[in-house]
Amino acid sequence: MPIHFLAEAVWTGIPWLPSGWTILKLTIAVAVIGLIKWYSMGASNTAERQMHGKVVMITGGTTGIGASIALRLAERGAQIVLLVHQSPKDLFLIDFIDDLREKSGNELIYAEQVDLSSLYSVRQFATRWIDNAPPRRLDMIILCAATLTPAGKPRTLTSEGLEEAWMVNYLANFHLLSILSPAIRAQPPDRDVRILFATCSSYITSPPIEDGSEALKKKDWAPAKAYARSKLALMMFGHAFQKHLDAYKRPDGAPMNARVIFVDPGYSRTPGMRRWLTRGTLWGLALYLVFWQNVWLILKSSEGGAQSFLYAAMDVTFGRGAGGKLVKECQEMDYARVDIKDEKAAKKLWEGSEKLIERVEREEAVRRALEKKEQEKAAKGKAPEDKSNEKAEVTAKGAEKPKSRRQKKAK
Ligand SMILES: NC(=O)c1ccc[n+]([C@@H]2O[C@H](COP(=O)([O-])OP(=O)(O)OC[C@H]3O[C@@H](n4cnc5c(N)ncnc54)[C@H](OP(=O)(O)O)[C@@H]3O)[C@@H](O)[C@H]2O)c1
Repeated sequence: MPIHFLAEAVWTGIPWLPSGWTILKLTIAVAVIGLIKWYSMGASNTAERQMHGKVVMITGGTTGIGASIALRLAERGAQIVLLVHQSPKDLFLIDFIDDLREKSGNELIYAEQVDLSSLYSVRQFATRWIDNAPPRRLDMIILCAATLTPAGKPRTLTSEGLEEAWMVNYLANFHLLSILSPAIRAQPPDRDVRILFATCSSYITSPPIEDGSEALKKKDWAPAKAYARSKLALMMFGHAFQKHLDAYKRPDGAPMNARVIFVDPGYSRTPGMRRWLTRGTLWGLALYLVFWQNVWLILKSSEGGAQSFLYAAMDVTFGRGAGGKLVKECQEMDYARVDIKDEKAAKKLWEGSEKLIERVEREEAVRRALEKKEQEKAAKGKAPEDKSNEKAEVTAKGAEKPKSRRQKKAK
């Protein structure tokens, strides 16, 4: 039988086998797909560093790229402090941390509640962190959280009245680092402290930034513009923050050991990216699922997006020399804009941000105080009501007396 079959295949060919031309076309198609996928996967991190005992604070560490970074650093023994906007009692968060601990084999993973859309929440956390003597150990801060309003969705304001992208992507980081600055500067000189800022190539398309007040104007607002602007502002601030650190004269005379590093992860398949691609709609999600293979082909995974962060976190070269480097695809890159290093522009933005924070915090403090007063008033207002209830009870009891007397009389 097999001999017959082989002889027939040799002499007449296999009927169900495609022609040579079809096979060639298929091979080319597979090779092209393979090449695109290989290119879109991006570079892999090859750097390693001893992370045991190091304290890493991370925002946006519960989903997407941030979650992959947290897992990889936890696997290497780092103590992870997740800054999350959920309550520590949130069941999903508890589950997430349990899962992370199990996967990484590291129990030193905690969460602190910090809502980056609230200046008050950022201040509460940061002041609690620095209110410690001696200063708490802090080896790395990874600023990964961000928000991007999908196209077609309306402009969102935070509870404090600030444009959301500006607040979460830029101002919250400005506020957090400004308060944590003494804790960063107080780290012993032998410690290699790194502050990783997540950026995005969209910063190139941002309009120029003045004092930041333009980001809060309703006029000309567009989701992509707001996101790009917040990332450019973040980079300008990052540079200025490095200067601020470098200018500090340490009491021990040692040079500054904290360095800012900007990281562009490249386009990745994360919940944030999915929300943007689907425009936050159900029909968008349906289209996303239909074309998922295209998304898979063109975009990296979250793990792929985390590679440049891991490189910036662990490569030995970033622990030496000047800070303020930009990393993309696991290599150092140049900036595509000169205003990032413009000291005058950065100063204007810094001062504008400080003024804005001061104003909003003052207004919010007044609002909270008024609210408290109102609550106290309401509680006091309730008290006389209670008394009147008591009175009513007394009257009711009093009313019972004649009844009892009458009853007595009747007796
Ligand atoms: N994905 C990409 O293609 C891409 C490309 C270039 C740059 N980047 C940058 O890389 C970073 C990570 O991107 P990603 O796509 O992984 O982000 P993502 O999926 O959108 O996740 C954002 C993270 O930020 C957190 N977050 C949002 N608002 C917050 C708030 N008010 N307070 C506290 N946390 C808040 C989210 O927490 P919840 O999940 O709990 O809301 C989430 O963990 C971002 O800075 C992004 O701009 C991403």
